[in-house]
Amino acid sequence: MQLIDDPEVMANWAKKRRRGGETVALVPTMGALHAGHLTLIKLARMHADEVVVSLFVNPIQFGEAKDFTHYPRKLEQDLMQCEALGVDVLFAPSADRVYMKDTSVWVDEELLSRGLCGESRPGHFRGVCTIVLKLLNLVQPDLAVFGEKDLQQLRIIERMVRDLNIPVEILRGKTVRESDGLAMSSRNQRLSEGARLDAVVIYESIQGAKKQVEQGERSVEVLIQAVRDRLVCLPRIVIDYVVVVDDVTLKPIERIHSTALLAIAVKLESIRLIDNDVLRRS
Ligand code: PAF
Repeated sequence: MQLIDDPEVMANWAKKRRRGGETVALVPTMGALHAGHLTLIKLARMHADEVVVSLFVNPIQFGEAKDFTHYPRKLEQDLMQCEALGVDVLFAPSADRVYMKDTSVWVDEELLSRGLCGESRPGHFRGVCTIVLKLLNLVQPDLAVFGEKDLQQLRIIERMVRDLNIPVEILRGKTVRESDGLAMSSRNQRLSEGARLDAVVIYESIQGAKKQVEQGERSVEVLIQAVRDRLVCLPRIVIDYVVVVDDVTLKPIERIHSTALLAIAVKLESIRLIDNDVLRRS
């Protein structure tokens, strides 16, 4: 496996592979890899000759400086995991190689990023779209893989690819969960023992809502209230949002007609955790 930190070297490497007729897959990450990332890498491996994993803690997608500073960084461990999975290149550039000091062009999505995380983290998706487009431009992969845990991000990237005619196929990786159901996230590593135990309530409340829908509940207001009631039982949890939205447009809905998306964001000891799942009428 090659470790590349220079964007130009990365672009040349990818150009050579494309010229040689090989297919290239990109898995963009911010590192501190966990089983969720590994699933995305395995998916990429199944669909392309060459797999590039990018590892870049993107400063412009973090609102609070503290969140950026405390984001876990585990390069050595990430290197070993990528090597073990047969990754061809780990692309880990430094911020000054990615962003010019006088950068003045950014990518904004204006519809799907209005609600959910876009509302509580202004500028977050501009940061995500800008870095993802830069990575796609550098690597020019045949396909790129993103996880369903960040479903709003996934939908926004799919929309960016559609609207900007980017010649790449986006593959979706299923959310991977801990044995108690907590969605895997690099941020989980920062939770104290007590907070980690509390965190399972996010999954439990989603399961509760799914069951209610299976049993015939159609009112979004009732479903949201039940999730909130469950979450607030734990004093360490601060709710950011609990929403039920159309799973394509991400717009709020009032009743469950066929399928809908339940999405939750909370802070636990000021660590932001998100999760989502589809609510489906049986
Ligand atoms: O999901 C992530 O880890 C990041 O948002 C991404 C897509 C790598 C962009 O920085």
